[in-house]
Amino acid sequence: MKSTKITLASLFILTLLSSCGASTDFISNPASQITSQQSNLFRILLSMAAVVFVIVEGGIIFAVLRFRRKKDDSGEPKQVHGNVPLEIIWTAIPVLLVVILFILTITTMNGIAAPPSSIADIRVNVVGHQWWWEFDYPDQKITTADELVIPVGRPVQIILTSMDVVHSFWVPELAGKTDVVPGQTNRMWLTADHPGTFEGQCAEFCGIEHALMRMRIIAVSGADFETWVKGQQNPPPAPQSDLEIQGQKLVVAGVCAACHTIDGTTMKGKVGPNLTHLFSRDTFAGAVFPLNDANLSAWLKDTQAMKPGNLMAIKVPDSQIQAILAYLKTLK
Ligand code: CUA
Repeated sequence: MKSTKITLASLFILTLLSSCGASTDFISNPASQITSQQSNLFRILLSMAAVVFVIVEGGIIFAVLRFRRKKDDSGEPKQVHGNVPLEIIWTAIPVLLVVILFILTITTMNGIAAPPSSIADIRVNVVGHQWWWEFDYPDQKITTADELVIPVGRPVQIILTSMDVVHSFWVPELAGKTDVVPGQTNRMWLTADHPGTFEGQCAEFCGIEHALMRMRIIAVSGADFETWVKGQQNPPPAPQSDLEIQGQKLVVAGVCAACHTIDGTTMKGKVGPNLTHLFSRDTFAGAVFPLNDANLSAWLKDTQAMKPGNLMAIKVPDSQIQAILAYLKTLK
């Protein structure tokens, strides 16, 4: 019995400690105006709740110890009720606390409702797919996937739609969740206060690979963002080596074209991620796997072994993998 208690206690402490270390915890690592305000509200709320908890629990423990039944007690204790000043006090204090919380919450909600209108914002159409994210910059005419590059300090207007089922767009350090609903357009905004890579996760169960529907928000300086935009707007360089050229033929004339787009080729598929600048990204398949030779070869060989149930039910023959890989690596 004692060991069970010790195990439970250590589990509780471990849980507390592990939540402190999580990098995607917006309470201790807010990285935007939105999450800073949410974090402040949470801290105030937690402090108020802690004070109430200590007073109430302290009162209970005091009463239990002080007024417990003594050896020579018999019958009912003296009954006290109808103490008007006490009843006024314990009604007024909670009402006051709730009013304070209400005002703080409304102020925070107003504070994060809209970005400052003085700064030019970036528009991104975010499309949820089973199980990856499409990022479409209508003003820059860029379409990419899984990794959303944004400039630090500029509000990003996010317009959310879904191709299939309900998803939820969530980057904890930058903003709260917003549902992504088929047949409906939802809007939200976010900013990043400093450069960095912020992990995001689909937060609405959307099928068997829901857990592997992640994303990364990469916040860079304004100059780096402009460089990135130019790089994405240019078509990728033409393949050079024989292997690369052979790979391009296999990709463009093969089944890949049914689902993927590569600018500068005849590939205009819309089902899967745009591959035009695949190797400008660090991850693939819902920002789940680091983009490298080993992972991409394994993916081409058998996507279902890496992410069971995904819509790319393709097995590329071993004889073609080296050439296709060589070509894909030119897509920078
Ligand atoms: Cu998309 Cu869960």
